[in-house]
Amino acid sequence: MKRTLVTTALPYANGPVHIGHLAGVYVPADIYVRYLRLKGQEVLFIGGSDEHGVPVTIRARKEGITTQQVVDRYHELIKRSFEQFGISFDIYSRTTSKIHHQFASDYFRRLYDNGKFIEQTSEQFYDPETNEFLTDRNIRGECPRCHSLGAYGDQCEKCGATLSPDELINPYNAVNGNPLTKKETKHWYLPLDQYQTWLEDWILNQHKEWRPNVYGQCKSWLDGGLRPRAVTRDLDWGIPVPVEGAEGKVLYVWFDAPIGYISNTKELCDAQPDKYGPWEKWWKDPETRLIHFIGKDNIVFHCIVFPSMLKADGSYILPDNVPSNEFLNLEGDKISTSRNWAVWLNEYLDDFPGKQDVLRYVLTANAPETKDNDFTWADFQARNNNELVAIYGNFVNRALVLTQKYFEGHVPQRGELNDYDRATLDEFERTRREMENLLDAFRFRDAQKEAMNLARIGNKYLADTEPWKLAKTDLTRTATVLNLALQITANLAIAFEPFLPFSSAKLRQMLGMPEVNWQHLGNMNLLPEGQMLGEVSLLFEKIEDNAIQAQLDRLARIKQENEEAQKAEERKNWRPAPIKADTSIDEFDKMDIRVATVLECKPVKKSERLLEFRLDDGMGGRTILSGIAQSYPDPSVLVGKQVLFIANFPPRKMMGIESQGMILSAVDADGRLVVTSLTAPAANGAQVG
Ligand code: 2FM
Ligand code: ZN
Repeated sequence: MKRTLVTTALPYANGPVHIGHLAGVYVPADIYVRYLRLKGQEVLFIGGSDEHGVPVTIRARKEGITTQQVVDRYHELIKRSFEQFGISFDIYSRTTSKIHHQFASDYFRRLYDNGKFIEQTSEQFYDPETNEFLTDRNIRGECPRCHSLGAYGDQCEKCGATLSPDELINPYNAVNGNPLTKKETKHWYLPLDQYQTWLEDWILNQHKEWRPNVYGQCKSWLDGGLRPRAVTRDLDWGIPVPVEGAEGKVLYVWFDAPIGYISNTKELCDAQPDKYGPWEKWWKDPETRLIHFIGKDNIVFHCIVFPSMLKADGSYILPDNVPSNEFLNLEGDKISTSRNWAVWLNEYLDDFPGKQDVLRYVLTANAPETKDNDFTWADFQARNNNELVAIYGNFVNRALVLTQKYFEGHVPQRGELNDYDRATLDEFERTRREMENLLDAFRFRDAQKEAMNLARIGNKYLADTEPWKLAKTDLTRTATVLNLALQITANLAIAFEPFLPFSSAKLRQMLGMPEVNWQHLGNMNLLPEGQMLGEVSLLFEKIEDNAIQAQLDRLARIKQENEEAQKAEERKNWRPAPIKADTSIDEFDKMDIRVATVLECKPVKKSERLLEFRLDDGMGGRTILSGIAQSYPDPSVLVGKQVLFIANFPPRKMMGIESQGMILSAVDADGRLVVTSLTAPAANGAQVG
């Protein structure tokens, strides 16, 4: 049996971790590791914070503190959150550690000495005032796709387009707004094109079993043809490039971060060699399987870039599988740290103390294993109340309380089993095998569903056998039924252990079951007859509507704040549109622009956009429809105002109403439409020119 090394993406230490992190990476990895440990396999679980890169430096500027203070603060916060949620790392370290700096620096130097990089000089965006090269994230400008202002050099947050800084219209320094120039700079590149053929064979032929989303993304990168990638940056935060003449340059964060998996392993093994052996055993011995748990934005780095770095060195094993998840959305919108659109783990625990397992359960039940999924508070409440409380918790509670009532809390003696008892037991044996197949295939959502099905079977067993009635007539049969029900609860403690470790521990304590072992799942003699049960308490509690409403209110507040901030940002970055091509007085004269007074103004039924104006145009009146409803939530404010309109557009029917012209409006900086008016009253029907 091979040993297994499990790594989880190192989160940037630029903010707390949220449910998207937990659902996408850490809970599935933890389930897998707990399952392997429960099977008695040799496994190592590596985590840590990614403390280099631009995201942390941006945070430091925003908060007005040093970058070191940022990473210290968030590393501790993230580490604590993972501990609180039972993510059972063997080590959770950080990429600013001395050991990591040394290891990553040596790694680079080794590849450099062996001629594995190419040197290239290229033009990069540069701020002449601050004398610095800018990284993608620090460059902003107009999005070439949706033309929103303030898109980043790597992505437009408005339309989601992936961009490169060269595509931005009017790029500027995100920090100070300075316009940018280009300047030449030298960098080292990993020539991924040289690994193309090898990667094609290794992934496309030898790893057809990888998840379709992972395999598909790799295939599309490979089909597009790989190009050399820079592994250094002009930045003052990171690991200095260990080469002469590279002053002011650091290793690209995506070069050093995955090496963090290795250096963290080394840190652990060096500290406890007797327990873990030498680190090389985990990274260089083909008897180790390496599994990377990541989110989908990390696929290219873990399936293409990092394996090429490992291959370039030549002495490392390669990942066996990279079970990447898709994204989890929150109430229909993309989770975003910068927009505060998230459920932060530290805040969750303030609001739902002790309910770690509830969140673990819901996130696994909704895990974005094959496609993006949505977290909603309504679903969170429903899964807690209808599944954890009503099925699992209810069954366990009934089995234990009935045992206390009829057998003073002792596991009763089992008599002869009937066919129904035996059929119930068979389900457990079958489910263990099914769960193993699913867990081995990284299908955690379905595996958890199987565990919940066992609880359903238990519930049904009690409902069908009705020991509370049986006890009045046949105490021997009642003893058999409750013995089996208790053995089932003991099985549930095992089946749920990888998913809901806190509840399993609590249940084991109630049952007096110190040790558990995966192979015992399906065994119906886990609790010896006569064993005294511990004190009984509820495994799960109902979550009330007001707790859910408080979360929804919070999100509504954040949404409103974001909309206001977005508008302010757009206003700040707004510039008048360029002047159109020359026209002439003759062209202008063709437009018949007139003055009118608004008599009536109301929304058009079933249209989100249109307002219907009834105008006194001095010529008997007319109706005009205008697509400005969103800018005038209360259109009555326009009644009595004088407006300008084009009178000689041919009439046009919209939503069954004829519109006789066009009302002139200005487009404001935030996209709002403002109806034009006059500085002093004029006769209705007067011509503008
Ligand atoms: O996407 C991220 O959050 C990165 N910090 C993940 C790094 S994974 C690994 F390479 F360390
Ligand atoms: Zn865009």
